Amino acid sequence: MAGESGSREQWGSRAGFILAAIGSAVGLGNMWRFSYLTNEGGGAAFLVLYLLLVAAVGVPVMLAELVIGRGSGRSPIGALAHYGGDRWRPLGALFLASGFLILSYYSVIAGWTLRYAVSALGGFSADSGAYFEQVATGPASVAWHLLFMTLTVGIVVGGVNRGIERVSIVLMPLLFVIICGIAVYAATLPGAGSGYAFYLDIHLEKVFDWQVLNHAAGQAFFSLSLGMGAMLTYASYLSEDENLPNESVIIAAADFAVAFVAGLAVFPLLFALGLQHEVGASSLGALFITLPTAFHEMGGAGRVVGLLFFVALAVGALTSAISLLEVVVSTAIDQLGWSRSRAAIVLGAACALLGIPSALDLGVLGFMDQLAGTLFLVFGGLMLSIFVGWVMPDPVAEARQGAEGVPWFFAWRWLLRSVVPVLLLVVLWQSLRALFG
Ligand code: PHE
Repeated sequence: MAGESGSREQWGSRAGFILAAIGSAVGLGNMWRFSYLTNEGGGAAFLVLYLLLVAAVGVPVMLAELVIGRGSGRSPIGALAHYGGDRWRPLGALFLASGFLILSYYSVIAGWTLRYAVSALGGFSADSGAYFEQVATGPASVAWHLLFMTLTVGIVVGGVNRGIERVSIVLMPLLFVIICGIAVYAATLPGAGSGYAFYLDIHLEKVFDWQVLNHAAGQAFFSLSLGMGAMLTYASYLSEDENLPNESVIIAAADFAVAFVAGLAVFPLLFALGLQHEVGASSLGALFITLPTAFHEMGGAGRVVGLLFFVALAVGALTSAISLLEVVVSTAIDQLGWSRSRAAIVLGAACALLGIPSALDLGVLGFMDQLAGTLFLVFGGLMLSIFVGWVMPDPVAEARQGAEGVPWFFAWRWLLRSVVPVLLLVVLWQSLRALFG
């Protein structure tokens, strides 16, 4: 059953839904955190660990969200209450809080990418460190954050079909083309081979470290937009005949592919210019200081490649931000009876205000990312797996709609009941210790 309100918005096409969901998944996480973590966490060994986590945890939790969303035809709070009763409403509320908090700082970083894209037109600064200081602090940082939030609100006001879907159908293919184009160009540069080696060199010893497992799990949730109801909300606009198991694999595979290819683009660029020693400082530093240095040193070609790169980043960030805002907006429409424009404008403005401290202080931004972007998501994923594994009456029957003949359902429910919650509990415990210990 597709919810009770016949008037609920719907995606225009299957491709529209898939591109919007991929748009949610592919974002700053793919280009900002992934290559950095891979390099830090043991190269190819990290990749294998990450892929295992995506397959054993990411895809099952994604399918769980899609199933609850489509089956209930409601936003998170209503969807959880629909299958689990009122005592599951607080989990829905936590989802809203996570989305809201993540969007508040995500938009700040997205604002910087916009600014870098615009300033690439005039060439990258010779002193990227100083330039980043200028961009990332003070009124400038606030202003670009507000601009980015305005764009996000503008698209969400347009609605599921004429806003989110339309934008995703145009922007996502553009992003793929740009990232692949840069990767191909980077392959022709002199240092490319050592760049790949640096990115993917196997360091087995690093993988057997709790910290690396935490990072990989946190990254999987953040990158796949799981644990806060974004995928659930998008799926609530679906009709019955979608093959959700296949869809969850397609979305996860596309997300991984973009992250992987972005790494193939970034490391050769840094190596070609001898900047590999500057990668270490922080993931944000690598993105906003080291890479722009490379673009500066590449001269004219650097301007073009740099412009394209930051456009791709801004595009990825935009299609992710609209999914974050849509979670709260759709809840205000369902639960409070607000109009879409009112919900998007009021909630977008509130989120913009909440992001100002992050725009002014990198410490606040980092803390929010740890708290909401990692801990809350992992906790949300844990609760979701318990919900669908143990509480929801018959998730397999719901998942089977439109997906006859997909053989892995049994493993799905079993994973959600056992492996996923146990693993996430360990990760949660470890991350709490790292954060507060
Ligand atoms: N998946 C997005 C990214 O990688 C971020 C995001 C997280 C979006 C949670 C929605 C929900 O950038």
